[in-house]
Amino acid sequence: MMNTKKKFASVLLIAAFAIAAVGLSGCVQEEDENVIIVGTSADFPPFEYMEGGEIIGFDIEMVTAVLESLNYTVEVQDIAFDGLIGSLQSGKIDIIAAAMSIDPERELEVDFTIPYFEADLSVLIMANSNIVLNDSNYLDELANLTIGAQTGTTGAMWVVNNLINITNATMQEEQFKRYETYTEAVLDLENGNLDAVVIDKPVGEAFAEDEDMEIAYTIVSGEQYGLAVKEGNTELLNKLNTALAAYMESDDWTALVKKYFE
Ligand code: ARG
Repeated sequence: MMNTKKKFASVLLIAAFAIAAVGLSGCVQEEDENVIIVGTSADFPPFEYMEGGEIIGFDIEMVTAVLESLNYTVEVQDIAFDGLIGSLQSGKIDIIAAAMSIDPERELEVDFTIPYFEADLSVLIMANSNIVLNDSNYLDELANLTIGAQTGTTGAMWVVNNLINITNATMQEEQFKRYETYTEAVLDLENGNLDAVVIDKPVGEAFAEDEDMEIAYTIVSGEQYGLAVKEGNTELLNKLNTALAAYMESDDWTALVKKYFE
């Protein structure tokens, strides 16, 4: 039979383990709850891009401000655009902030916040090329070119739906090159491997600012960007919508728009 001393010691030991376990799990849980992982595709200036090994841009500053107002700590991960929705669904990330256009097909897979930005598509070309596009000729002209876009984007979908998958299409599938990042597509444009890149207009304008490139045509698509959360994550979605709406009313928002777009 155990003597009282021994019994007392083992009770103490069990208690100590229990306290340690509660303490540990408490710690881990607290950290998990406050850290939010934001996924982006950092190839899309001025919304998200790399500078000095860091991911920066309009979306990054905006989502950080919004999440910090909700007392979250933000961690940003760079993921190819086409992998963002899968990463959200598998729980690898909590939010997508990637200038992602709200569209009915994506709505089936994720939940979008209120829109925070509106943009059209554009055709980016080298300034020294002799491509001339206007309202009456652009579809026929584009169908003769080699065009690039980032995989999974509305730009890529536009090329497929308006130039390739149409009756009497003259553009061949081989004339369309898909890239993991828009950075690579633009590099290929500069290298002469592409004639044009179909890309969101504010981003085409940003590329055209630094390089020998220009916007040859605006494709009026009237897209609206939203942040995305996992389908059914209503709690986070509601918090984001409230905080985003408030942020968009603030002077910080006006200053941010000015910083990146003026
Ligand atoms: N707005 C376009 C879309 O939703 C392109 C977004 C690309 N974003 C990026 N970070 N590369 O498809």
